[in-house]
Amino acid sequence: MKIAVPLEREPGEGRVAATPDTVKKFKALGFDVAVEAGAGLKSRITDADYEAAGATIVADAAAASAGADIVLTVRRPTGEQAGLAPAGALVIGMLDPHGHKDAIQAIAEKNVSAFAMEFMPRITRAQVMDVLSSQANLAGYQAVIDAASEYDRAFPMMMTAAGTVSAAKVFIMGAGVAGLQAIATARRLGAIVTATDVRPAAKEQVASLGAKFVAVEDEEFKQAETAAGYAKPMSAEYQAKQAALVAEHIKKQDIVVTTALIPGRPAPKLVSAEMVASMKPGSVLIDLAVERGGNVEGAVAGEVAQVGGVKIVGHLNVAGRIAASASLLYAKNLYAFVETLVDKKEKQLAVNWDDELVKATLVTKDGAIVHPALQN
Ligand code: NAI
Repeated sequence: MKIAVPLEREPGEGRVAATPDTVKKFKALGFDVAVEAGAGLKSRITDADYEAAGATIVADAAAASAGADIVLTVRRPTGEQAGLAPAGALVIGMLDPHGHKDAIQAIAEKNVSAFAMEFMPRITRAQVMDVLSSQANLAGYQAVIDAASEYDRAFPMMMTAAGTVSAAKVFIMGAGVAGLQAIATARRLGAIVTATDVRPAAKEQVASLGAKFVAVEDEEFKQAETAAGYAKPMSAEYQAKQAALVAEHIKKQDIVVTTALIPGRPAPKLVSAEMVASMKPGSVLIDLAVERGGNVEGAVAGEVAQVGGVKIVGHLNVAGRIAASASLLYAKNLYAFVETLVDKKEKQLAVNWDDELVKATLVTKDGAIVHPALQN
């Protein structure tokens, strides 16, 4: 059995799909692991580290993928890259399939079985494979670190002989995995933190982290969580009430971090240009939803936009900005999934195509797109 770990081609992608720790574990399962030279460098993993763990370093992606049973990636490969592996190989990564049907079709045409880790069900058994959580958690942390470095004042209250610096006021919009970690990080830095969400379950979680919950808590709010734990799109009426509440609150804030997403849809617009204009000079907004259209009007993907006296930060791939930690957790997520695809006694691949984790994540097989969510 062979696993391939190619270097990520996407500009700015610092993460890698395996670490020396997971290489050792794959070896113990009976895999040979071929790592493309330099694949780990941006995550501070040298080729020598991989070799010491038992991997073979190869010159290019073609050599890594030749004869591979499994190709592990961070980002979605192109059809051409996926096609370097033999027909029937498993390609496992964050394929970001929604809205990229052509790219998934190109992979399907190479006859590989591709798995989108984002589709992993959020059930207890699969918690260790939950890439959305592992990466969003770090993105939430990094968002606050980015905010602190853009903000030209201190976060904590400081009482000094020379005078008092007041604490920064931080507002987190969307209190899912990223938002909750952003709250915790901002609190640790000494900010005064408030947060909002449309799911009632978020209220208690926000309070348990020592932040104040600010939201329109009407009948619609009480029904806003789907069975899967995600937010529903809210009615125009709710959005208007939410906007009025947010408009009042936001003008008193120094930092706003937005993380609001609805699976498979564009991000909800939560902060209007007027709200941005109402903030004090020097205020900072971090839009973690920018890749999905953004929560903040005026956010530009990949840029720090200066709008009046306010900065709107639209970094892409925020988890990738903390690549060494993100790779560590992502590689473990992948290992946990691959482990379920192997017959440990026989040291052979033994994919149970009826397993709920396989069914939920498999997007292409035998030349076709097979996932129900990608059929139309
Ligand atoms: P997400 O990334 O889809 O969305 C982020 C947050 O934005 C969510 O909390 C959502 O409610 C909020 N949001 C959406 N529309 C909004 C609006 N108009 N205004 C304000 N906020 C809005 O969600 P994420 O972070 O993936 O988490 C979703 C849920 O799944 C959470 O309850 C989380 O605790 C739960 N979860 C469960 C896991 C498990 O059971 N294994 C693992 C990870 C998360």
